[in-house]
Amino acid sequence: MTPSPLARGEAPGKVILFGEHAVVYGRPAIAAPVTQVRARAHIFPASTCTVEAIDLHQRVEVARAPADDPFALMVRLVCDALQRPLPPWRIVITSDIPIAAGLGSGAAISAAIGRAMLAGFNAHLPNETLSALVYEVEKLHHGTPSGIDNTVVVYERPVWFVRGREPEPFAVARPIPLLIADTGVPSPTRIAVGDVRRAWEQEPARFEALFDEIGDIARQARSAIEEGDIPALGPLMHANQTLLARMGVSSPELDRLVRAALDAGAAGAKLSGAGRGGNMIALVSDDIAEEVANALRAAGAVRVISTTIPPATPI
Ligand code: PMV
Repeated sequence: MTPSPLARGEAPGKVILFGEHAVVYGRPAIAAPVTQVRARAHIFPASTCTVEAIDLHQRVEVARAPADDPFALMVRLVCDALQRPLPPWRIVITSDIPIAAGLGSGAAISAAIGRAMLAGFNAHLPNETLSALVYEVEKLHHGTPSGIDNTVVVYERPVWFVRGREPEPFAVARPIPLLIADTGVPSPTRIAVGDVRRAWEQEPARFEALFDEIGDIARQARSAIEEGDIPALGPLMHANQTLLARMGVSSPELDRLVRAALDAGAAGAKLSGAGRGGNMIALVSDDIAEEVANALRAAGAVRVISTTIPPATPI
């Protein structure tokens, strides 16, 4: 019989609604948690401190792990923040967030480890601190993360995010119904972010102008979300997708899914996250959601998640 855990913690996946990539260069972006998929960490008593990711067939002993092991780094960071020695725990991770798919699985796993450890130590850290620790781990995945992933999975609410600033919770006046469809093509964030950086270095003026346009779209989207004008988001998603494609981060698979969603009646569709592969999102009203989901599967989506970003008032 499996012993019951000493403590547990979890964190959701996330989608970027507007502004990916441009957010790395200081423009605003909007992201929201996806609570249907989650990473979980369970802590069991043990003789040494290990982290096991069953789905990934990975096991690390924290004291012996290399400095760039993300699981061990998160454990060490939490211990340092709380000024505790490594605890004799077996920390077991499970997650149904697809990896390398733009849904923030790395950040969610780190946040789940952090939350479980806080529960295990019976300690508290403010969201701001936990988010900063997850950010340190995110740097291993790609050198220049904007910080949007750690922020949204730790705060678990839609955020208006500008790099280097406190995340701004904002009002979501009406629910935003989305389908999230996975191309099935893994796309490590590091590669797409690195390619955009090289392209920006070669053509700074062109890329700065693209980032500015994306920033304007994010601002318009925020107003529409605050006013509950959900239909206005469709054309804004379309405009954002067009700019992302011009930056070279879409792909034939993403283009196919975007087209299929629009042809089946979605109000808007775009890639979400780093692009090249991973996931896209489509704005769908309830009456056509099933039809659009079927069209996405027929166009090659390996998984379609239906989610609704619930109304929220700023705290
Ligand atoms: O982790 P992903 O694949 O959702 O991508 C993160 C979004 C980027 O803007 C491309 C990178 C970043 O750090 O914000």
